[in-house]
Amino acid sequence: MVGKFITLEGIDGAGKSTHLAWMAEFLRDHRLEVRTTREPGGTELGEALRRLLLDRTQQLHPETEALLMFAARREHLDKVILPALASGVWVLCDRFTDATFAYQGGGSGVPWSRVETLEHWVQGSVQPDLTVYFDVPPDIGRERSERVRAPDRFEKEEDAFFARVRAAYVQRVRESPTRMYRVDATLSIEEIRKQLEKLLAKLVM
Ligand code: ADP
Ligand code: TYD
Repeated sequence: MVGKFITLEGIDGAGKSTHLAWMAEFLRDHRLEVRTTREPGGTELGEALRRLLLDRTQQLHPETEALLMFAARREHLDKVILPALASGVWVLCDRFTDATFAYQGGGSGVPWSRVETLEHWVQGSVQPDLTVYFDVPPDIGRERSERVRAPDRFEKEEDAFFARVRAAYVQRVRESPTRMYRVDATLSIEEIRKQLEKLLAKLVM
């Protein structure tokens, strides 16, 4: 038995958490065992690194950020994601490697080739079966996320930073058009759900 690996991506406030909960429910309704998780995080070490990475008082070099993201990811794959998939559990993960390309690569200028090196090192040939990219302009993302939480270290970046992050996500979609599906996240939650339902229905068949 092998489960499917689904990741959700997008700038802060795009709607990932909202739709992740709904997608998990949809899959469970189809009698699938589902594990939801997030990055950075998902393991004890990963959550400790997450606290450091999101701490507003820290000043980190962007390459340090990229290395820590992949250190957390290595543990996450080893302890959570791969064992779950191997036992037939579907894994829904709030952010994965596309976020490192987008934030540390696009947003902070870490060369794409360095992120690719880490991707190959840490993941080998492991890639999500499906990545849903929630595409939203930075001002709408900011307005939405400020409604629900105080900004973390990344969320206090300017709109220009998020515009670069968004452009990098768009590039990732261009590079992996079969794995990644772009959703116009300015649509209503209901309209987005209809698209997600079609996508997931194909995957559970
Ligand atoms: P993320 O996890 O991507 O940061 P959230 O799912 O936490 O984003 O959404 C942030 C806020 O925006 C929440 O209050 C959520 O209800 C709202 N929201 C999410 N998607 C939409 C949408 N398509 N239209 C309007 N509001 C939305
Ligand atoms: P997120 O879980 O979306 O935070 P929140 O619960 O506040 O929505 O993600 C945490 C932050 O980490 C987010 O701003 C993006 C950033 N991040 C990176 O910069 N690189 C990465 O590789 C990952 C996984 C996340």
